[in-house]
Amino acid sequence: MSEDDVLLIGGCSVEDLASTYGTPLYVYDEAGLRAQARALSDGLRARWPNSEVLFASKSFPAVAMYRLAAEEGLSVDVAGLGELQFALAARVPADRLYLHGNAKSDDEIRLAVETHIAAIIVDNTDDLHRIERLAAEPQNVLLRVIPGVAPDVHASQSTGGQDSKFGVPLDQLDDVVRLIARLEHVTLIGIHLHIGSQVLETEPFVRAVEAIGRVGEYPVYNIGGGLGVQYTFDEDPPSVEAYLDAVVAAAARVLPAGAKLLIEPGRSIVARAGVTLYRVNTVKRSGKSFVAVDGGMADNMDIALTGQRYEALIANRVDGGLPETVDLVGRQCESGDRLRADIALNQPVVGDLVVMTTTGAYAYTMANNYNGALRPAVVFCADGKSRVVVARESIDDLLRLQEPAAL
Ligand SMILES: Cc1ncc(COP(=O)(O)O)c(C=O)c1O
Repeated sequence: MSEDDVLLIGGCSVEDLASTYGTPLYVYDEAGLRAQARALSDGLRARWPNSEVLFASKSFPAVAMYRLAAEEGLSVDVAGLGELQFALAARVPADRLYLHGNAKSDDEIRLAVETHIAAIIVDNTDDLHRIERLAAEPQNVLLRVIPGVAPDVHASQSTGGQDSKFGVPLDQLDDVVRLIARLEHVTLIGIHLHIGSQVLETEPFVRAVEAIGRVGEYPVYNIGGGLGVQYTFDEDPPSVEAYLDAVVAAAARVLPAGAKLLIEPGRSIVARAGVTLYRVNTVKRSGKSFVAVDGGMADNMDIALTGQRYEALIANRVDGGLPETVDLVGRQCESGDRLRADIALNQPVVGDLVVMTTTGAYAYTMANNYNGALRPAVVFCADGKSRVVVARESIDDLLRLQEPAAL
């Protein structure tokens, strides 16, 4: 907080940021991103020296973030051609890149093998046939398995249960391994799993590690990401230390001692370092009290997709004013575009600046053009200085892609 009761992010006043760059605006505390990246990589290395932390870049796929992850010594996982191209544009060394995807294209595989990335995570036998056809020399792969562990998360975030669309069921593993042995251009170096996202307990991670401890001995085990973070006052996720203690203890029990251990956190690195700034456009007291801002599900799909709840506050009146319980809503044409139901905001009025906290993961990722919304800019703040790392989309950017109006 500044002396005049205005919120600061990375030493920058959110009021100044909003008037300089406009709203909606994604703002990140750069030191917070770096500290979380280091906490995970130092913490894992201290517990399991032969290890690597991969930043799950889908959580915040901005070129500046790929660069930051590389600067902090992290590897990066990408889940598509665009993310791979972003990572290469950020000069992440190719041997620190891992490619995911349950429906990979020839173009993705081709770029991955031509740039000699560290490994492709194979999801299915079609991946294998594509690599065999497109690679000129043996390509390292990890084989993604379904561990049969479904954590208590929203259905769209659950990826480790028996009916998951990602990976190979454990009872088909031997057949796939036999197929790989017959391929000239595929080298199996290990096993991958990922049980889901925003997981708020350690026990499912432990069960997943135990499940792959029974599938044979490999040089590499990637146990995915998924550690949850605190979005609302009532959530209580495990700390990074508790998470690492639990997964490394399980790995020490069931995995070969010399194996390399990989984790793929996304949300737990970026979520809490980011906020979204909005201006209040409308305050309406009808059946309920509605505070409507200049953004919504076009810049934060996560709420409609997963029911994620966020906290928000009026930045220019953090302590003052009388709290009123309102629905904080967006401006997109859906009743489901409700940023947060029943939240106490201090005497909201038109023109106020609203800060929605913990929007650093998957908000920028899923930004879209609903109702012609322009995707917001992304700003990094550090030591009181701000810089735009992704420019705000312009109407010209959108119109450029459209068939010109009939002459
Ligand atoms: C394969 C894989 N790894 C890692 C992650 C990162 O998960 P999170 O951002 O919850 O850490 C995801 C996200 O769903 C994923 O699909």
